[in-house]
Formats: sequence, structure tokens, C-alpha cells
Amino acid sequence: MEIDTIREVALRAAKEAGAILCQGLEHRRTIEFKGVKNLVTDMDRRSEKVIADLVRYALPHHSVVCEEGTRLEGDSGYRWFVDPLDGTTNYAHGYPCFSVSIGVEKDGALILGVVYDPNLEELFMAERGAGAFVNGKRLQVSAICAMSDALLATGFPNDVAGTAQNNLDYFVRFMNRAQGVRRPGSAALDLCYVAAGRFDGFWELKLYPWDMAAGSLMVTEAGGRVTDLRGGPHNLSNPQIVASNGPLHDEMLRVLAMEI
Ligand code: IPD
Ligand code: CA
Ligand code: CA
Repeated sequence: MEIDTIREVALRAAKEAGAILCQGLEHRRTIEFKGVKNLVTDMDRRSEKVIADLVRYALPHHSVVCEEGTRLEGDSGYRWFVDPLDGTTNYAHGYPCFSVSIGVEKDGALILGVVYDPNLEELFMAERGAGAFVNGKRLQVSAICAMSDALLATGFPNDVAGTAQNNLDYFVRFMNRAQGVRRPGSAALDLCYVAAGRFDGFWELKLYPWDMAAGSLMVTEAGGRVTDLRGGPHNLSNPQIVASNGPLHDEMLRVLAMEI
């Protein structure tokens, strides 16, 4: 079955790319700037090539969209969204919090998500209708109901200093209400941590399809909820996302909607 090949290729690609990233962490990294705070390293590109080559070879009719520019066009209805290194700023500083994120959709609906954290050797995988797993163990979102008990996560856009829509206002609101708010630096992993019940909720304003594809399926397959900022259905072309364990979701939406 095609899904078996897709799963196999995605898992292999994530692990191979993750291993390369970890090796690269030991050496001096070449850093370029796509914008003032928007970094890309030589390893982002190496990771991307490994993943794209594997898909191209095994599934030549699949389309592929990668963050660093690789595009493959296929006519099968399958489309892969690849973030070859989610957490580049962390990586460039040698801070070991980053991941490889691969999401696959069929005719516009997500069917598979794989996120690999090579530092902790945690391989997250979700398949539509079959659940979400880390290293083979089933994931389940948390049962936290009260904001005062919740540990949340978020992230900030690269243009944080040059825009009003920089998430700092929402960050303050949640800092004042939640038990804690973290900014780890890999949105794909943040979503996996919601799926794993390590975070109770996550929101961010300016993400790309490759940041969210795998992680959003992870959350829904682990029993959580994913919407846009107003509670409507989320789709990958919407850069704003709210993900939670479910019980906390409406309160998160209320905090985001507050007029202050
Ligand atoms: C970034 C990370 C980060 C998020 C940024 C993203 P990158 O992705 O996911 O957590 O806050 O918005 O751009 O650039 O490291 O792939
Ligand atoms: Ca990213
Ligand atoms: Ca990236």
C-alpha cells in the first residue's frame, strides 16, 4: 500500500536528516541571513537535500514543498511539507533544541506527520485515524482544565522588532494567567509536546505550512484541538494557529480575543 511506503520514507528521511544535523552541530556552521533575524545554515540545506532526494527517488509522483526552496511537482495528489531544520536559531548557537518536520497531505487533507528530535532521539509520528506516537508509544494530550495550572508554549516571528503583530501582547496576557509560558524555538516540537501532554496549549501568529503540517496532525491524533485564532478550522495556509489539549481551548481563545 502507498501509505506504507510514505510512512517508511518519511521516517527514514527524518532520522537520516536528524543524524546529519547532530553531526553538523559538532563542527563550525556556515550561517547566512535571509533577513535580520532570519538565519539559515549550510546544514538546513544539507538536511533538505537528503529528505527531498529520498522522496524524489521513492515516490516520484509526489509534490514536495521545502522551506529552503526545493520544489518537486507531482500529479498524485500527495504533497509533502518539509522543514529540514526547525529551530535554526537554536542550532546556529549550538543550543540543542531543534527538529526535522515532515507532513504529508493527500488531496489537501493531512494524512501523516513525522517530527524527529535527534537530541533526545524522540521520533514522533501521527497517521490520520490511527493516532499519534513517540518512539512507538501512544500519545495523549493532558487533562488540565484551568489556565492557572497550564504550561503553554509559543514563538515569535523573525520580524518581531519591526511589526506590531509580534505576539508580545499575547505573551504578556498568558504569562499573567498561566502557570508558565515557554518559548523553546521549534514550533514543530512545541506541537508534539502538546500532543504528548507536556504542554497544555500552544499558539503562534506567523508560521508556515512546513512548521505546522506534521505537528498539527500530531495534536488532533492525540485527542487535542487545533483552530485558528478565532476558533475556526485551521488550514495550513493560515499562519495563525492555536493548539491545545481541548479543555483549555476556549479559554485560550478568550484570552486571545480580549480587548485591552
Ligand atoms: C522557527 C521556529 C520557531 C518559531 C518561528 C519559526 P525555523 O522556524 O519554528 O519556534 O517561533 O516562528 O520560524 O526558522 O527555525 O525553521
Ligand atoms: Ca520552522
Ligand atoms: Ca527551518
